[in-house]
Amino acid sequence: MDRIAITGGARLQGEIPISGAKNSAIKLMAASLLTEDTLRLTNMPRLADTRFLGKLLQRLGTEVVESEGEDGPETLLRTREIVSAIAPYDLVRQMRASFNVLGPLVARTGQAKVSLPGGCTIGARPVDLHLKVLETLGARIDLHEGYVYAQAPRGLSGAHIDFPFVSVGATEHAMLAAVLADGETTITNAACEPEMIDLANCLNAMGAKVSGAGTSAIRIQGVGRLHGATYAVMPDRIETGTYAVAAAMAGGEVRLTRTRSDFIQALIDKMVEAGVEVTPHNDGLTVRRNGALLKAVEVETGVYPGFATDLQAQFMALMTLADGESVIKENIFENRFMHAPELSRLGADISVQGGEARVRGVASLEGAQVMATDLRASVSLVIAGLAAHGETMVNRVYHLDRGFERLEEKLGACGANIRRIKGDGEGGED
Ligand code: EPZ
Repeated sequence: MDRIAITGGARLQGEIPISGAKNSAIKLMAASLLTEDTLRLTNMPRLADTRFLGKLLQRLGTEVVESEGEDGPETLLRTREIVSAIAPYDLVRQMRASFNVLGPLVARTGQAKVSLPGGCTIGARPVDLHLKVLETLGARIDLHEGYVYAQAPRGLSGAHIDFPFVSVGATEHAMLAAVLADGETTITNAACEPEMIDLANCLNAMGAKVSGAGTSAIRIQGVGRLHGATYAVMPDRIETGTYAVAAAMAGGEVRLTRTRSDFIQALIDKMVEAGVEVTPHNDGLTVRRNGALLKAVEVETGVYPGFATDLQAQFMALMTLADGESVIKENIFENRFMHAPELSRLGADISVQGGEARVRGVASLEGAQVMATDLRASVSLVIAGLAAHGETMVNRVYHLDRGFERLEEKLGACGANIRRIKGDGEGGED
């Protein structure tokens, strides 16, 4: 397995272009199952997760063609017909978001058999809300031997879906399933993440009638069929926030381009409070820190527009060198502090109790061997390594490859001393 070696201490100077958003791209790819025409996705990130979903879609009958377009990487997806409506365990287990093919398969063919994803390292992550969505839209759901069997032989019917709490994946699943349903669907207590708007815009470009995405009330007027479209994936707000924190951690000045600062406003507010200079511009933002000591600040994760759980690990890395004690509360997932003991291996002073971590800033970190069991935890170790004395070796890099495109190239171009050491094989699960 590959490893990443970082020699800390270099200040970052330069520009990092942000890629298309992983967490949007994989839902847009699933949307391609809803039409027999071609969906052309531009600004596609090239990641292990998008490759992985491509493989699953091919198994279901989609032709997947990747190419380099005028404006960067593109993927053409065409599902003339669904050749199999079965998503097997080995493919769903490796990436939970594969479960999102369930709704489109039922919407298009009236039935599907999709493996339950199971738990993962950041928490139990049940799919009860996803199943409730399909039942509410009229599908019959049976669970046998770890599989969901869904049937709606006469198609799905519009209905009112009121979520008991906000779920990104279940809101997306509801949109994916309801666009071809008969009649109107209304969703209340919907997730408001920018990825909801991206999915709705893409579905609308394909002929769907979705309004209200980005607010907590979404309305979908079902249509008889969807057609092909060309759609540009939104910029990755988590990649944007990650490099913003990396620049603050290492010091220097980094301009993040091809992105939007408003997507990460909650992070920017906390960075500014901690003493980092952030200047938004119309193509992204510039992050600057010139040696000033960071101030410890308190952070609590929440649904959008709150502080993203996917940026919590990175911010914790930053707080390890702040002046004072920072309290970080994780409110979305029950087990998302696996990076804390690894950061402690680098000399950080962190204690975790339940959903709360107390980070007491230290004067310096020291390089060590570390490893992490999820994507955002792994990148927090890279960020810490940028500021640590000596060499930090991040093991199990396949987690990083799932969600960060050309990470070492992008950081290296800004002066980071970072290199990949090739190993053999890849693997893992979400
Ligand atoms: C999405 O996960 C993202 N993944 C996650 O990013 C992100 O952390 C999360 O949203 C929150 O922003 C993708 O988009 C692929 P949820 P998702 O449903 O949809 C519970 C990354 O690193 N829940 O909003 O799974 C759930 O257990 C990943 O890129 C149920 O109880 O998140 C969690 O506690 C990690 N039942 C909470 O809701 C359900 O049926 C919010 O989860 C569904 C969710």
